[in-house]
Amino acid sequence: MISQEQNDLMTHVGPGTPAGNLLRNYWQPVALVDQFLNSSRPVLPIKVLGEEFVLIKNSKNQYGLLDRHCPHRGADLAYGRYEDGNLRCVFHGWLFDVNGKCLETPAEPKGSRMCEHIKQRSYPLVDRSGIVFAWLGAGEPSAFPHFDCFTAPDAYTFAFKGYWDCNWLQALEVGIDPAHASFLHRYFEDEDTAESYGKQFRGKPSDSELPISKVLREYDQPEITVARTDYGMRLVTLRKIDHRQTHGRSTHILFPQTFVIPMNSEMTITQWHVPVDDHGCYWYSIFTSFTTPVDKKTMREQRLKTYPAPDYKPIHNRANGWGFDAEQQRKATYTGMGFDINIHDQFACESPGQMADRTKENLGSSDKGIVLYRRLLIDAINKNSRGEKAMMMLDAAQASALTGPPAVDGIGPTGRWEDYYKEADAARRNRAPWAAKAA
Ligand code: FES
Ligand SMILES: [Fe+2]
Repeated sequence: MISQEQNDLMTHVGPGTPAGNLLRNYWQPVALVDQFLNSSRPVLPIKVLGEEFVLIKNSKNQYGLLDRHCPHRGADLAYGRYEDGNLRCVFHGWLFDVNGKCLETPAEPKGSRMCEHIKQRSYPLVDRSGIVFAWLGAGEPSAFPHFDCFTAPDAYTFAFKGYWDCNWLQALEVGIDPAHASFLHRYFEDEDTAESYGKQFRGKPSDSELPISKVLREYDQPEITVARTDYGMRLVTLRKIDHRQTHGRSTHILFPQTFVIPMNSEMTITQWHVPVDDHGCYWYSIFTSFTTPVDKKTMREQRLKTYPAPDYKPIHNRANGWGFDAEQQRKATYTGMGFDINIHDQFACESPGQMADRTKENLGSSDKGIVLYRRLLIDAINKNSRGEKAMMMLDAAQASALTGPPAVDGIGPTGRWEDYYKEADAARRNRAPWAAKAA
């Protein structure tokens, strides 16, 4: 049972809050590299962890993340004039470079050296696999772990994002609740699995001819095991088909805000849940392909239909009942909210309200991943508040030891799925032109 106090502790992330202080000690996604493609004015307003910033990119492909309000008298720099890679405040014309250095204060008398003393606060940035990550904390940035999503070459990854109108923890918790896939994402009929490119729960598991939609529909009481790991936690979810065959999924939490799941036998999805403020969040996903380069154009077009640029807010949402259609619910899908599983998950996260009241929950055994995660989160918040290092605050040596993790969706022998998924992952890794070969 979660108390109101614990719920507040885990979910509130503004400046100075215990969870906000914790999350500022990890790299946070703030934009897609795609958001700057073909832009004549590469300037984006950014809100993350309840704070406002402006993100710019210059012609040397350097990004800059600056505090949003001008250090002169506070005008909003997101409306600034973009001039040769620098940003000029429109109130009195002060000019800043990507590092926040003040270059000009044109209203000051000739010869004024005022701007030499002015610096707008700026933050370290790194772009990896199509996402711009920012370091908002006070200390030294952590090293990037050597997970597949960061080590795969650009052609083998694709990144996308979408907004959900709810607290970040609700969004994350849907990814560590493996039982819901048999209900929330149930389709009454299976599609041709050959048409499944870019879609989750529409292809075939590894080493199988069964459509995954049939497996989820017909085997709806999975056996779930969760384990704490160096990087967070691992979940293994088994659906026993018969005494010979068992379907399983291995999924992971990369502490604190990210899960890794298999999209199909070929691709994984690494998904961050990044608070905009306490009542809204963006998911950022990196799709990582092992054997063949990703068809980015198809992946992008598929997703822009429901999460259109520039703000990536979904076309189905709370205001229009997530597209609910009673006739479709009777005949085709469990939710009646279409065939895009992202919308189903969005409904599940948003419909409890922008801030779920966890004091009223009744958790079952299928929620054991959520129970363990909350324990890890509260433990890390407390450690960080005491000034100790929490899980996944990494130096370079620790980061290079973190690889994979093996996110597999496959059908293996009953009784030895734990061996099978490691073998399936090794086989996929051996086929991949970029991944370190399995021993
Ligand atoms: S407020 Fe920005 S230049 Fe004056
Ligand atoms: Fe889901």
